[in-house]
Amino acid sequence: MPFSRRISGSRTIAFWIFLLLLLSIALPPRLGAQDSDDDEDEPPPPATHAAIAGKRIFQQRCGFCHGADGSGGEGPDLLHSSLVLHDDNGNLILPVVRGGRAAQGMPAFSLPPLQIRQIAAFLHEEIQADATIFYTNSTADYSLKKLLVGNASAGKIYFNGEGKCSGCHSPTGDLAHIASKYRPIELQSRIAYPAGTTPTIEVTLPSGLKLSGAQVYADPFVVSLRDARGWTRSFSTDHVKVEIHDPLLEHKRLLTIYTDTILHDLFAYLETLKE
Ligand code: HEC
Ligand code: HEC
Repeated sequence: MPFSRRISGSRTIAFWIFLLLLLSIALPPRLGAQDSDDDEDEPPPPATHAAIAGKRIFQQRCGFCHGADGSGGEGPDLLHSSLVLHDDNGNLILPVVRGGRAAQGMPAFSLPPLQIRQIAAFLHEEIQADATIFYTNSTADYSLKKLLVGNASAGKIYFNGEGKCSGCHSPTGDLAHIASKYRPIELQSRIAYPAGTTPTIEVTLPSGLKLSGAQVYADPFVVSLRDARGWTRSFSTDHVKVEIHDPLLEHKRLLTIYTDTILHDLFAYLETLKE
């Protein structure tokens, strides 16, 4: 009998192991994910998961040269770099990290795109935090000083001349008081990446039928628009003719020709439109 009791005992154990296994599968995955996170002690509120992961990678791989928070060390300050300010989800940071700038002392890293996007998320959150500190601490006009390295009168000349900004904007019209409307860091990125207007997409179906609506998504292969009835409709660009009307097209073109100096000068000029 002890023999059969042992069997039933081990059956009970097997049952409990089975139950535990089931439970561990059924538990929400985020519990498991957080266990492997070094930063689990830190209060998570503002940081996204991507930024938390990015922080760790950045500190391991990049902090040595760029400072643990990205504000500079042996290598340049990345929180006031116009390249980083213009970066959207890693699109500009990725080529620098993958290719390096050997001649200037920046090694190449073969990090996967996901990790580079996480680093980008971390840097963008640091930039935000920096701007928030500036605004909550009135004695720290440090951030503005750091940003205000351009020449306002050169910026004004560019605005009215070569930059053709005055073709669409006016310092006494739509851009009047723009410097009091936005925080400096925000103004700087708005010059490069204005927000608030959505491109319109017009799609011509093979039948000749045309549909148009606000852009929801667009890449070279797929476009999505919101139609007049509020439905999101996606099309493969192989099958339809696509025209995108983007009010910010000119800005996107400018982005490819701005130099740091132009951006800083324009920023210094627009900062004078306060009052
Ligand atoms: C050995 C030092 C070193 C390390 C490590 C390093 N960098 Fe750099 N990084 C530099 C230097 C120096 C430059 C400036 C290159 C130049 O002048 O063009 C630079 C430039 C950059 C720039 C361009 C900034 C701009 O405004 O043009 C970015 C973005 C950047 N690094 C991101 C990273 C990231 C992300 C990592 C980690 C994956 C990293 N770096 C690791 C030294 C380093
Ligand atoms: C072809 C027209 C066009 C040109 C040229 C142009 N912009 Fe714009 N700009 C726009 C549009 C459209 C918007 C988005 C609508 C808005 O926010 O007013 C915009 C938005 C902005 C904003 C954000 C305004 C806000 O209130 O958020 C700034 C700053 C700006 N542009 C600066 C410039 C500068 C500096 C130049 C020249 C280097 C320039 N723009 C050239 C069309 C143009």
